Amino acid sequence: MKKTALITGISGQDGAYLAKLLLNKNYKVIGSDRRSSRASLWRLKRLGIEKKVIMEELELSELYDIKRLVQKYKFNEIYNLGAQSFVKSSFNSPLYTSNVTGTSVLKILETIREINPKTKFYQASSSEMYGKVVEKIQNENTNFNPQSPYAIAKVFGHYTTKLYRESYNIFAVSGILFNHESPLRGEEFVTRKITLGLVKIIKGDLKCLELGNIYAKRDWGYAKEYVEAIWKMLQQKKPEDFVISTGKTFSVKQFINETLKFLKINGKWIGKGLNERLINKRNGKTIIKINPKFFRPAEVDILIGDSSKAHKVLKWKPRVKLKELVKIMLESELKFYN
Ligand code: NAP
Ligand code: GDD
Repeated sequence: MKKTALITGISGQDGAYLAKLLLNKNYKVIGSDRRSSRASLWRLKRLGIEKKVIMEELELSELYDIKRLVQKYKFNEIYNLGAQSFVKSSFNSPLYTSNVTGTSVLKILETIREINPKTKFYQASSSEMYGKVVEKIQNENTNFNPQSPYAIAKVFGHYTTKLYRESYNIFAVSGILFNHESPLRGEEFVTRKITLGLVKIIKGDLKCLELGNIYAKRDWGYAKEYVEAIWKMLQQKKPEDFVISTGKTFSVKQFINETLKFLKINGKWIGKGLNERLINKRNGKTIIKINPKFFRPAEVDILIGDSSKAHKVLKWKPRVKLKELVKIMLESELKFYN
């Protein structure tokens, strides 16, 4: 029998890759999207699947929208990927973020419990929950220490998922995914901001790219691989949470340096602190500088994940390393830039 799955946040990076994966596995895919005058399904179009998914309107903060959908379809699986997912914006809109990113998880789980408790549920938890890390390498047992309204909302979603699993016997799991990037990444996130920004510079469409804290370190993987782990979590016999990561960490500055190498830009870093900048040695022009506008009120300095449980139980391992990730992103940037 064909399985029916709901993907909230299908218009986002992970939603698009997951939809493609489920379609390849012969699922009936229902994707939910909120109404917007600027709505765009460019990622689904890029993957050639925009006509293969059934789109439904769903505003995550609206309980009745969720109920309506769960009543209409008998979902076998719900993947909750929708969220206000930009950490910086969560400091400007903390209440909105707690609602869309946090409380919506409770709304979905309560609806599942009431209407169709056999539905399997996936929650998109985040390494951001570890925040100011209490252990050098983070795994499923590491305590959380969130540093943003976004991370606090994710912690709420995470524990709510655990509660519904343990109290009501619902197959509900969280994937604690570390940062994952791709050509489908939103332009405001730092990796895509760098790949797109530097391509704009070589095309002559941007003079200088402005960034915040270039010493923050992240465990960066490839989104297309990470959605395979998401799917596998819902195919297990036992509902359990998993960390998904590469186990390697790099600074934003190291990511920039890899980008420069691929684009053959001969750059030189000069200055310190707010005056640190990258000069193009060919013409002496500054192409990257620091703008405190991009600093956050609280920062997550470093993340490194230990995904050995996923290696063992899910038989999932990341294959793409940072250098290749940069190449994948830049090849796409150059192909689609206009
Ligand atoms: P993304 O590209 O920002 O996508 C977020 C999705 O949520 C978009 O489809 C967005 O719709 C939707 N959304 C936002 N607000 C909504 C609302 N009020 N009602 C309904 N839908 C709403 O995020 P992503 O990178 O694919 O990440 C997917 C999920 O994993 C998110 O929950 C994120 O927090 C989490 N996560 C991501 C990472 C990562 O590194 N990518 C790591 C750990 C966890 P619009 O297109 O209308 O904005
Ligand atoms: N966005 C952005 N823009 N980040 C910058 C900039 C800039 O100009 N300059 C430096 N950074 C630093 C941020 O301060 C942060 O330390 C790091 O680059 C990564 O920022 P983002 O790419 O915005 O990602 P994030 O780590 O805050 O959050 C992402 O990963 C989480 C998983 O750990 C998002 O995808 C979250 O939704 C996800 O949960």
